[in-house]
Amino acid sequence: MKVLGISGSLNTNGSTAYAVQHALEHLMEKGVTTRYLTVAGRDITPCDGCWACRDAGVCVYGGDDMDEIVDSMRWCDALIVGSPVYFGLLSGPLKIVMDRSLVLRTGDERFEMTGKPGAGIACGGFRNGGQEMTLKCIQTWMLIHNMIVVSDGAPFSHFGATIVDDARSDELGLKTVRNMADHLQAVTARMGVD
Ligand SMILES: Cc1cc2nc3c(=O)[nH]c(=O)nc-3n(C[C@H](O)[C@H](O)[C@H](O)COP(=O)(O)O)c2cc1C
Repeated sequence: MKVLGISGSLNTNGSTAYAVQHALEHLMEKGVTTRYLTVAGRDITPCDGCWACRDAGVCVYGGDDMDEIVDSMRWCDALIVGSPVYFGLLSGPLKIVMDRSLVLRTGDERFEMTGKPGAGIACGGFRNGGQEMTLKCIQTWMLIHNMIVVSDGAPFSHFGATIVDDARSDELGLKTVRNMADHLQAVTARMGVD
């Protein structure tokens, strides 16, 4: 089983990076193959809606730093996306990545992420700061990619993993991260992926 984790924060040492890597390390301990990517340090041109990918199957801006993310989304069996909460929503750099992922979903029969389980992690500075709305943004993107959206699983099972303030000291939040990772692995395994 191959799980990709994407941090949607420009902060390479912040809560989002930590929480996404925490999920991947938890999965690696159970024998899962993982790959970690971050939006930080990437030069990604925003989608301008030209729709050239619909006919060509490639983006006119292909060749920039989005290529590795697209390749990794093709590579993975399951996907974890983390975002900091910015004004109650996901981060801008992550939204640019989401829009550029259109090349994987160009219509008709071409929905390359079909059936892959996915789950989110939202890291906010405050309780009720918009973590649920941020998770909904991530899940909406996954649904439009024809993916299977996964909750944070038992024993809590709500909308995904949530962090309040510094992830390193949010024990309950990190438990939702590990629960989510376990649930994602279980759902992916039930689909017959080793
Ligand atoms: C522009 C901006 C907007 C933010 N808006 C919110 C918010 O609406 N709700 C919240 O809980 N935290 C908000 N925060 C705090 C961040 O979500 C929080 O510090 C988070 O841990 C940052 O993630 P990072 O450590 O991965 O960078 C905001 C931070 C910034 C910089």
